[in-house]
Amino acid sequence: MELDELSRKLEKRESFPTLPGVISEIVHEIDSEKISMEDLGKIIQKDVSFAAHLVRQANSGAYVEAGRVSSVVQAVRVMGFRVLKGMCLTVPIFTRYKNLPGISELWYHSRVASLCCRIVSEKIQLGEKDEVETAGLLHDLGKVFLALEMPEFMHRQSQMADSAEGRSDWIAERKNLGIDHCFIGARYGRMFNFPGTILEPILWHHEPQKANHNKELTHVCCLGDQIASIVGAPHPDFHFVEPSLLHSLDYLGIGAELFQSILGECLHRVSAISVCDFPGS
Ligand SMILES: [Fe+2]
Ligand SMILES: [Fe+2]
Repeated sequence: MELDELSRKLEKRESFPTLPGVISEIVHEIDSEKISMEDLGKIIQKDVSFAAHLVRQANSGAYVEAGRVSSVVQAVRVMGFRVLKGMCLTVPIFTRYKNLPGISELWYHSRVASLCCRIVSEKIQLGEKDEVETAGLLHDLGKVFLALEMPEFMHRQSQMADSAEGRSDWIAERKNLGIDHCFIGARYGRMFNFPGTILEPILWHHEPQKANHNKELTHVCCLGDQIASIVGAPHPDFHFVEPSLLHSLDYLGIGAELFQSILGECLHRVSAISVCDFPGS
């Protein structure tokens, strides 16, 4: 597919996979900002497997401090509306395409990156923990679009993932396709009205120095993404850590001791995330 054709496709909402009815309803109600957690819980329960998935997530490593969660309303309370909306936009898409090569690994990577983003934000006492956790969940969603539209390119990239010639995924995409997964993911997020605090980290998670208004959040997202690779959840199409890791550590003022403590916490809490956890699976 030519770059022009791909760009035209990205302009249209129909080019992105549609969300199931209940999930659209949840996103709509969250955007209206008028619904209570209890009423939202009732809507979520209409989709039994998604509801069960949320409760499982709320009991996973990301929310250990919240204690045992046993109901959907509790899960919504623990996660917050923003993270829930991020789950609504990612879970159905990853689930629908879980049989495409690399997608289940990418789903694991996204959940681990999201958790690592949260842990970094906790450790440096960042205010916007929900935003950066949501960005972590969505940051590579553009790759699902590429796996659908450019399967041969993605297959080639995955084959070179841990070879010496392998280059960073986003650089290879720009060179070969003229566009990268960061741009596609940010476009998808913009379609669903995410604020700049989430969109900028998605758009610049590989080049955090380019962020305009949300540099700190973007560096945290970059760090969470790289730490995910370090703790054993790399991209299916690129297995290495990039130099941006050092820049982000430097920008955020994270020294060796604090970084060690972050890595220890990430390793500990990531072990509570199962490798393949799609709703209904
Ligand atoms: Fe990425
Ligand atoms: Fe990533």
